[in-house]
Amino acid sequence: MRVDRFLSNLPRFNRKQVRLLLVERRVTVDGAVVSDPHHEVRAFSRVCVGDEVLQAGKPARYFMLHKPQGCVSATSDPQHPTVLDWLDEPDKDELHIAGRLDFNTTGLMVITNDGQWSRRLTQPHTKLPKVYLVETEQTIGAEYAETFVKGLYFAFEDLTTQPAELEVLGPTTARLSIIEGRYHQVKRMFGHFDNKVIGLHRERMGPLELDAALAPGEYRALTDDEIRQV
Ligand code: URA
Repeated sequence: MRVDRFLSNLPRFNRKQVRLLLVERRVTVDGAVVSDPHHEVRAFSRVCVGDEVLQAGKPARYFMLHKPQGCVSATSDPQHPTVLDWLDEPDKDELHIAGRLDFNTTGLMVITNDGQWSRRLTQPHTKLPKVYLVETEQTIGAEYAETFVKGLYFAFEDLTTQPAELEVLGPTTARLSIIEGRYHQVKRMFGHFDNKVIGLHRERMGPLELDAALAPGEYRALTDDEIRQV
C-alpha cells in the first residue's frame, strides 16, 4: 500500500496532515526517510513518524528447498507430508509456497512469507522462466519443440500456453523452459503427444537456481543477492 494511504488510514491523521508529515521528512520506512507519497509500505515494513513506531514490521523470510518426491506442495495436508515438514523454522504458518510442484516432482521449491516478492517470481507477466528436466516414457519427437513454441491450447482454462523452449537432451530426456505454471502444465504439454512424463525436476525459477549442494529434503535461506534478483 502507498505510504500516504497507509498513514491516512490511521484514525489520527487526515490527508493534509499526511502530506505535511511527508514534506517535513518526518516519516521513515525501514529506517530511511520517505517523502514520496507513492512509496510502497508492506506488511514487513517498519514505519515510524519521528520516534514513534506506527508499524513494527516483521522480517521477510526466503528459503529454497530441494523438494524430494512424495510430499505435497501445500502448507497442510491430512494424508501426506508437506514441503513445510522439511523446514525447521518458527512460525511456519506464515510461510507460503511460490510455485507448486506435483507430489512426485523434485527440485527447486521456493518458500517465503513475502507475497509481493513471490508473485513476481510466479506470475506469467513477469516472464521469468521455470526450467524443468523432463524424462518421458516414449521418444521425444522433433516436432515437439515447434509445437511448444507456438503454444498449446488448454481447453479447461480456455487459453493458449505462452511460448516454451524445448532442448532435447536424449531420446527420452529434455530441458523445458516455461513462463507459466498452469496446473500439471509440463505433463499436459507432453500429454498432447501421448507421451507420459515419468520424471520431472525443476532446476530453476527465473534467476534462482537449485543449489547443487542441497540433497533432496535439504534447504537453505536465500542470499541477499538472490532475493534482490527477483
Ligand atoms: N508441470 C507439471 O506437470 N508438474 C509439476 O510438478 C510442475 C510443472
